[in-house]
Amino acid sequence: MVQITPLHTLFAAEVTGVDLAAGPDEAGFARIRAAFEQSSVLVFRDQDIDDDTQIRFSERFGALETTKVGSSGAGSKLVVLSNLDPDGAIVPPTSRQMLVNRANQAWHADSSFKPVPARASMLSARRIPSSGGDTQYACMRAAYAELPQRLKAAIEGRVAVHDFSYSRSRIDPEMVTEEERRAVPPVRQAMVLDHGPGLGRSLYLGAHAARVEGMGETEGRALIDELMDFATQERFVYTHRWRRHDLVLWDNRAVLHRATPFRGSVEARHMVRTTIAGDGPTVTGASAAA
Ligand code: OGA
Ligand code: MN
Repeated sequence: MVQITPLHTLFAAEVTGVDLAAGPDEAGFARIRAAFEQSSVLVFRDQDIDDDTQIRFSERFGALETTKVGSSGAGSKLVVLSNLDPDGAIVPPTSRQMLVNRANQAWHADSSFKPVPARASMLSARRIPSSGGDTQYACMRAAYAELPQRLKAAIEGRVAVHDFSYSRSRIDPEMVTEEERRAVPPVRQAMVLDHGPGLGRSLYLGAHAARVEGMGETEGRALIDELMDFATQERFVYTHRWRRHDLVLWDNRAVLHRATPFRGSVEARHMVRTTIAGDGPTVTGASAAA
């Protein structure tokens, strides 16, 4: 029997009574789906699953994204976030894998740099460090609801330009390859998303948001920074402390998330992600970035 237990006053819940390897039945899945829409972050514990099981469960929520060039798992339905090389040894601190982990430490929504941004992500903990390496989630529906009127007015109907090259160049100017630049040019995204009756609206930003359309560089950046500072206050945040075999599903259109540091040169961390594609752009003319 699928049960849903809240993990935070605003969002996030744990799902128990389900074995993902066997797969929930239709009624069980309907409860999970409803909890996902309502709570935005769902935690499943003690799910010792393999890649195929993860893909199969993810696909019940919708079609999966294919991993972009330059990411570990490119061309497949998996994104591998790991500090291990194929032989299981820890990679050097200067390696791309370590940079990716650092980039993930900035609050972001997965694939917000794509014309149709991701709907949801599912991350499973295959190996975790003894301490650190938590993942944090910030509730963008609550953040929007509590936003001062002045800021709500400032973003009403506005569009932000999201740019993968921008977010990565802040980590390391050399990090983005020409191939990546070509594969993911800047896109336009609404700054406010509407989730329909009963679910309200959410603020949609994150690390890939480079500028605000129709505003000067400095003014737009200042607005993005102010909104991000407001939206990621502690009261909006749920911190997930991973146990091995946890699986977490989150709604990229309703929460931001970030990785936190761990002793990555000493301890192994190996996570596998599937990404459920969005069913449409957030604005008309998403690709036509200025
Ligand atoms: C991700 C991500 C954070 C982490 O999987 O999309 O940002 O803690 N992960 O690994
Ligand atoms: Mn992410």
